Amino acid sequence: MRDLVAHRSTLFTESVIREMTRLCQQHGGVNLAQGFPDFPAPDPLKQEAARALAADINQYAITWGAKRLRDALVAKTERFSAIRYDPETEVTVCCGATECMAATLLALVNPGEEVIVFEPFYENYGPDAILCGASPRFVRLREPDWSFDPDELTGAFSNQTKAIVINTPNNPTGKVFSRAELDQIASLCRRWDVVAVTDEIYEHILFDGAQHVSLAGLEGMRERTVTISGVSKTFSVTGWRIGWCLAAPPLTAAIRKVHDFLTVGAPAPLQEAAAAALEMPLGYYRKLADGYRDRRDYLVPALEGAGFRTFLPHGAYYVMTDISTFGFDDDVAFARHLVSGVGVAAVPGSSFYADPAAGRQRLRFHFARRRETLEAAVERLQRLRARASTI
Ligand SMILES: Cc1ncc(COP(=O)(O)O)c(C=O)c1O
Repeated sequence: MRDLVAHRSTLFTESVIREMTRLCQQHGGVNLAQGFPDFPAPDPLKQEAARALAADINQYAITWGAKRLRDALVAKTERFSAIRYDPETEVTVCCGATECMAATLLALVNPGEEVIVFEPFYENYGPDAILCGASPRFVRLREPDWSFDPDELTGAFSNQTKAIVINTPNNPTGKVFSRAELDQIASLCRRWDVVAVTDEIYEHILFDGAQHVSLAGLEGMRERTVTISGVSKTFSVTGWRIGWCLAAPPLTAAIRKVHDFLTVGAPAPLQEAAAAALEMPLGYYRKLADGYRDRRDYLVPALEGAGFRTFLPHGAYYVMTDISTFGFDDDVAFARHLVSGVGVAAVPGSSFYADPAAGRQRLRFHFARRRETLEAAVERLQRLRARASTI
């Protein structure tokens, strides 16, 4: 019988993170798996969204984004990274950074070309590359500081390479790429005529004085970088589905065409609210980062106390841990035990690696949660400790 599904859909699996979320609901657990906040979004955003609906902003916005949002984005980008974009030819608003990445790779990468991806990686990048018929080529970020080996990176570039994906601050490791590391990447992109696609969705969640550097701001990179971000993480509204791509006109023209036929446009009333979000004062961003630092500083020692080894994150809202003290061979079995027996959901480390063996003793937690939620998780984790001591 004829195969009713396309071969490409068989080349990747369902999201493990969403599976963990479902299991967590079944077991009434505390979800530290899928990274979204359980605290309210800022009031001014919600008021603006309500105002936009009441004002009947209910029809399609301009495909590449409402004018007000594109203007706000250009002003905000100039304020934070001193890079100036043209709102008419260099900005595309999509349904979240997720669509931005898919639309960008579909627009820029030909079947058979290679896309370099650092691993452990955010789980969408592999399937995104596969959907455009490209081959992902992985370069390892090495523990404990998640640095890459410059020779390994150099060896990954070739005439086949079309793009490199960089996520900083990084999910799942919390690594913030340094200027020196980005300089090395930029120089390879220039040498091999490669496009850099930077996922900067956690750009404002930084700790310990870490600085976010946008690759597009480095010499010779503005013309060959697509910078992706969105409102999901900075404004705690992951369900609004508003993200954006900033790129030079030829790249933007291609991305806009793909975006148009994928989704037509992002939700119109929420684009208005996103524009208002981008006008928030500087103090908002400081409070956001401080809030996450406090959560990190609560959860990480508690995980250590429960028997995990941790890798301290300097940005984003995840912590990668080592589970080897618990005596499980397999991270997926451990994650299932944690959610069903202890009542805390986390993500098996293997889902962030091309070769699952590399993540067999790793587990990722997120801390985008109210203090009470984190406390409930920590209390449950004590049961794990009790169990470990009886093994
Ligand atoms: C690195 C990274 N990029 C993109 C996203 C998704 O962003 P959006 O909600 O804007 O689609 C996430 C969400 O977890 C993420 O961790």
